Amino acid sequence: MKHYLSVNDIDSVNEWVEDALILKKKPLAYKKLGKQKTIGLLFFNNSLRTRLSTQKAAMNLGMKFMTMNFGKDGWALEFEDGTIMDKGSAEHIKEAAQVVSQYCDILGIRAFASLENQEEDESEMIINSFRKYASIPVLNMESSLSHPLQALADILTIEEYKKKTNPKIVLSWAPHPRALPHAVANSFVKAMQLKHADFVITHPEGYELDPKITNGSQIEYDQEKALKNADFVYVKNWSNYKDYGRVINQDKNWMMTQKKLGDAKFMHCLPVRRNIVVEDAVLDGNQSLVIAQANNRTFAAQIVLKKMLESLL
Ligand code: CP
Repeated sequence: MKHYLSVNDIDSVNEWVEDALILKKKPLAYKKLGKQKTIGLLFFNNSLRTRLSTQKAAMNLGMKFMTMNFGKDGWALEFEDGTIMDKGSAEHIKEAAQVVSQYCDILGIRAFASLENQEEDESEMIINSFRKYASIPVLNMESSLSHPLQALADILTIEEYKKKTNPKIVLSWAPHPRALPHAVANSFVKAMQLKHADFVITHPEGYELDPKITNGSQIEYDQEKALKNADFVYVKNWSNYKDYGRVINQDKNWMMTQKKLGDAKFMHCLPVRRNIVVEDAVLDGNQSLVIAQANNRTFAAQIVLKKMLESLL
């Protein structure tokens, strides 16, 4: 595996999950694999979990890491070919990507959707440009459309906590005061499709995700109906897809409560706004898996980095 850009790069999901859970038991088992290797982590957006868990995963594999808040500290990049660079951009992606490739062996990129220009977001301009011009493997640490490290950690968590072979899993939209990207929801949907899970998506009418992503997954507009007999409830806000990037609904009735959750396990990628997305009682109760999910971010990143390192041998 050269790059890890989307859930589609997982060639055998059950094998990856098994290997990641073995790594979790012995995280230093491959400490020599990454010796003399460096991962560069470029953040165009904020992060807590992705930044620290990827660094931790790299350390567990014996790698060195270099992290840069590129959005804040890097030169403003130009992505268009043939531009006369007489405006804000100081450096072209062609040079930047090649320069970074000389310092690192693997390159992680975090670059969220702008939610302003749908066409540009859907072209995954930043991460695809790094992939095009860098000469080293690229790791997606959340792009406009996907967050495959999060989705892999989510699958690991479900695998660890499930009490039946084929649990019912629900992805439930929640209100949020700000417009949020679709990446986490998109990758979770794709992961559930990959797992052939018993899976339902619930959201207010008009909040459909990209139909190319949901692609036949069950959608139920009645949240109560969707939650019936759920074993896992993954709660996430996303902004409107049709009226791209807008917040058109803040209906508090969609917030997850202990009553609605019933006996199901609660999942969220974090960070989460308490008592907007989900009430305190859920997050503070013993059905919440959010800390376990965050822990599994390390082992998801580690299995991906292990495979990338092996492809460099
Ligand atoms: N879930 C997640 O990606 O967290 P961060 O944004 O803090 O990295």
